[in-house]
Amino acid sequence: MAEATKITLRRPDDWHLHLRDDLILEAVVAFTARRFARAIVMPNLSPPITTEAQARAYRGRILAALPVGADFTPLMTCYLTDDAEPDEIIRGFKEGVFTAVKLYPAGATTNSANGVTDMGAVLGVLEGMEKAGIPLLVHGETTDPRVDIFHREAVFIDRTLAPLIERFSGLKVVFEHITTSDAVDFVTSAGPNVAATITAHHLMINRNAMFEGGLQPHMYCLPVAKREHHRLALRVAATSGNAKFFLGTDSAPHTLATKETACGCAGIFSAPAALEQYVQVFDEDGALETFEAFASLNGPAFYGLAPNEATITLKKIAGQVPGDIPIENAEGPKGAIKPFMAGEALSWTLVD
Ligand code: DOR
Ligand code: ZN
Repeated sequence: MAEATKITLRRPDDWHLHLRDDLILEAVVAFTARRFARAIVMPNLSPPITTEAQARAYRGRILAALPVGADFTPLMTCYLTDDAEPDEIIRGFKEGVFTAVKLYPAGATTNSANGVTDMGAVLGVLEGMEKAGIPLLVHGETTDPRVDIFHREAVFIDRTLAPLIERFSGLKVVFEHITTSDAVDFVTSAGPNVAATITAHHLMINRNAMFEGGLQPHMYCLPVAKREHHRLALRVAATSGNAKFFLGTDSAPHTLATKETACGCAGIFSAPAALEQYVQVFDEDGALETFEAFASLNGPAFYGLAPNEATITLKKIAGQVPGDIPIENAEGPKGAIKPFMAGEALSWTLVD
């Protein structure tokens, strides 16, 4: 068969995205809106989005930051806290403001200090969500400091996620940005109400990338990239066509000032080229025929939404990831944001 040089698919969605607010929001949102029709927008602002009113206001700011003519719908999420009110969440969902609820174990990652300290505190909320059909999006890492950072996802499955799914067997759960073969196996063998997102960067790098030639802060995210065999398991899952796995970039912008410092933030900003990078991965693995399922069909099916009608086309034309994205009025050159693999070659280009 001739090698594919072009792929047309229904417009994809990004099922896990950080847009931030204000100047950063204005600088980054166009990259996503150019490629994706919808995105699940993470609520870990400071303070976090915990009410319907906050989510409505944030959605308004995102829409206001879009370029003229953009066709993009932000899908809002609620940040789960120990004292969350089931009524607030269920009302927000029924009114079409919240699409899902995000569980951050307190202290697991960036802006997670207000997250859940004890799953026992949110059982009532989870029960209400299960009944109402509201998806729970899970940052799946244990926060137990005695657990090795490379094992925190696997330990979270045993200690928290498996018991949670056992108890709430009808709850829709998305295991976000999975990084291990343990997570792939867990999701694969769970019921149809359990799915997972996979980032482009976790398909492309293993943990060596953080230390190659010196400490590489722009390769640091949470969950951290794992060993090579885990990366390969993620590639098999993503390209399998299995409806449980779908695209979620976890694009997470931080300025150079907050990444290139003694205590740098976790987060990889992949929005400028994540779609092209995913296509490259599928092409490398001879799996372009399952790309539309992963990028454009499996996510909407899980969320109970229609897939997008419009299409996009990518061609196998050499391109390049942009360099640092300047942020106007921020702290000089250190206010810029470095994309994942900035300046590096891309083998696929978005043409339409
Ligand atoms: O690397 C990450 N960055 N992981 C997360 O879970 C949060 C995110 C962020 O908000 O920067
Ligand atoms: Zn995230």
